[in-house]
Amino acid sequence: MKARRSCRAFSDRMPERELIEAVCEAGTYAPTGHGKQSPLIVAITNREVRDRLSRMNAQIWNDLTVKRGGTPNPDIDPFYGAPVVLLVLADADVVTAEYDGCAVLTNLLNAAHSVGLASCWIHRAKEEFESEEGRQLLKELGIDGHYIGIDHCVLGYAAKETAPALPRKKDYIRWVR
Ligand SMILES: Cc1cc2nc3c(=O)[nH]c(=O)nc-3n(C[C@H](O)[C@H](O)[C@H](O)COP(=O)(O)O)c2cc1C
Repeated sequence: MKARRSCRAFSDRMPERELIEAVCEAGTYAPTGHGKQSPLIVAITNREVRDRLSRMNAQIWNDLTVKRGGTPNPDIDPFYGAPVVLLVLADADVVTAEYDGCAVLTNLLNAAHSVGLASCWIHRAKEEFESEEGRQLLKELGIDGHYIGIDHCVLGYAAKETAPALPRKKDYIRWVR
């Protein structure tokens, strides 16, 4: 866990199916409130769907950037070229949905590292699936139900090495003995 880092430059190489399956399986063993297993992991290796999601995510990123007074980037791929997107959704009717989904995402990232894959947590899934386009995409993928977007874990092989983790902040851990 100390060596896992976010990757922001992926090669085109598609990870082996067994590795993707192992990472997803690890996600399903995350703790969930009341053991309800509220999340759903959508493992996307289809290029067209991956690119569509990337465009939706980029649009949200650009809109937020403009709102904050920044400069939009029309060419951005928020998935950094990763060939696999593990989209985590969670049942909106479960009170711990967001927490459950984040627990799954953390398992996915750590599991990816343990099988030698590079990964990164990518935000803005909430906004993606609040939109009409997002709801339409789920319908097309045959995903029925009342789901909220939690976030994405993008996966692949690193195109370049990542720097070591920054030192941990002082007093991150407070003991009460
Ligand atoms: C809730 C959350 C949202 C994140 N969203 C993004 C994102 O949209 N894009 C990105 O490049 N990294 C994203 N990250 C990754 C963090 O930037 C990264 O974990 C942090 O900089 C620490 O680096 P490390 O993962 O290499 O330790 C996100 C992480 C979390 C936990």
